[in-house]
Parts: sequence; C-alpha cells; structure tokens
Amino acid sequence: MNKYALAGKVAIVTGARRGIGKAIALRLARDGAKVVVADLDKEDCEKVVKEIEGAGGEGLALKLDITNEEEIIGAVRKTKEKFGKIDILVNNAGILFQEELDKMDTSKIDKILAVNLRGTILCAKHVILGMKSNNYGKIVNIASIAGFVGYDLSSIYCATKGALISITKELALELGKYKINVNAVAPGVIETPMIKDFLEDEKTKAALLVKIPCGRIGKPEDIANAVAFLASDESEYITGDTLVVDGGWLTV
Ligand SMILES: NC(=O)c1ccc[n+]([C@@H]2O[C@H](COP(=O)([O-])OP(=O)(O)OC[C@H]3O[C@@H](n4cnc5c(N)ncnc54)[C@H](O)[C@@H]3O)[C@@H](O)[C@H]2O)c1
Repeated sequence: MNKYALAGKVAIVTGARRGIGKAIALRLARDGAKVVVADLDKEDCEKVVKEIEGAGGEGLALKLDITNEEEIIGAVRKTKEKFGKIDILVNNAGILFQEELDKMDTSKIDKILAVNLRGTILCAKHVILGMKSNNYGKIVNIASIAGFVGYDLSSIYCATKGALISITKELALELGKYKINVNAVAPGVIETPMIKDFLEDEKTKAALLVKIPCGRIGKPEDIANAVAFLASDESEYITGDTLVVDGGWLTV
C-alpha cells in the first residue's frame, strides 16, 4: 500500500490509548492521517500522540467516554476546530465481561450494550452529518469473530459484535450515495490488555493456539493493517463488508 495513502485525511480512533486502538492510531498516522486519539484517560492518549509526533505525524488527544453522548458531540466539535473535518472514524472502543448469562449482573449487561453497541452507534451518528456534506467518509467498526460464532461465556459481547456486523451492512446501504464506505474488521484472538489474563495461562493459550491455523496469537498491528486498508481509497469499491483477521480461526 502507498506509504502516504492517508495524507491529508483526518481520523478519529476511539479506545485508542492502548491495545488494538493504539496500534490503529499509530498506523493511520504513519500513513499520513492526522489522528484524534480518544479514550477514557486523556493522559494515556497524550502519550500516544507524543509517539505519533515523535514519528513526524500529527495528533490530538481527547478524553472521550463513548457512553456519554455530550462527550461524543464535543469530540466531533473539537476535531473539526483543530483539523477542519473528519474523514475516517474507527469505532474501536469495546469491553468484555465473561460470565454465564444467568449469573451476570444486569448492570454489566447494560454496560456492554452501552459501550460496544450504543456508544459505537452514537459515534457514527455524530460524524455522519459532516461526512455527508463533504461527500466523503470511511467508517470502520471493530467487531469480532464473536459476532459470527459463539465464544465462551460471552453472550452479550457476541450479541453486540453481531449487531455491529449487521449495522455495518445497513449503513453501507444508507450512505453509499454520499461516498461514505462503512466496513468492519473482525479480529480473532489478539494479544492486548483485554485478554492478557487468559493468555498468561499456558493451558488456555495452548487451547487457543490449536484453533488458529496460522499458529500464533494475533498482534494489534495485524488489525491495524486491515483498518489502514479499509480507511484508504484502495478499498473504495468495498462497503458493507466485514474483514475477518483471525489467523484462520473461523475456517476450522
Ligand atoms: N483483543 C482481542 O482478542 C479482540 C478480539 C476481537 C475483538 N476485539 C475488539 O477490539 C477492540 C479493542 O480491544 P482491545 O483488545 O484493544 O482491548 P483493550 O481493553 O486493550 O482496549 C479497549 C479500549 O477501549 C477503551 N474503552 C472502554 N470503554 C470505553 C468507553 N466507554 N469510551 C471510550 N473508550 C473506552 C478502553 O479504555 C481501552 O483503551 C474492542 O472493540 C474489542 O472488542 C478484541
């Protein structure tokens, strides 16, 4: 891919202080985009922006809780004030609680829905207006292989990721005429703080590896590569799709 495929573009990445979101932010910046690093903790976001600037890029750190609609509206406003527009939204923020459904506290069910689904939808809602008037946009939703198949003790998480795959298709239909592409990436098992605990357990890790034809746990950069492609014009004729990046998990 052209090294400066995103030159002149402005991207917002949610949940970008660590893990997959951070790798996406660094990659989009490396490809030339100005990147808004948005997450719950502003100091962590500032550290990511420092890395971006250290590599010669441009970024903006924002405190953003995507369960708070006012904060989303504020983040969109601040991005436009600083960079003038929004070309790319990467809806990456997400949470996982693993528990049997009948034992799961209802407040946890509400929380997963509020972050993974409602928050993601509201981020899209509030950037779409500007994208429509610019007649340009790329929205990339970070789903999961758990949106296609069941994943142990993760009923609500699976439900939210399946819903993201579904809304990705509908929004592609709704927004195609404005030259806004809407796609998703479905990661498999990726080494990040989200799943650090069970990767530290050698037995669990070995059981996961058996299911991965590529023979390794994924890296955040594997997901960032896919997002960079879907955020660029090299994927102009792809919309409504979900790109599975799982080392082959779903083929087994
Ligand atoms: N790691 C995996 O194996 C894996 C697999 C499939 C999908 N995913 C998805 O990838 C995305 C990134 O996950 P990760 O593995 O990097 O996890 P992570 O926990 O390391 O990162 C998630 C980020 O989202 C942020 N976040 C949580 N709630 C938020 C909120 N209300 N507002 C804004 N930000 C919030 C967190 O602060 C954190 O920085 C998630 O959507 C996750 O569901 C991860």
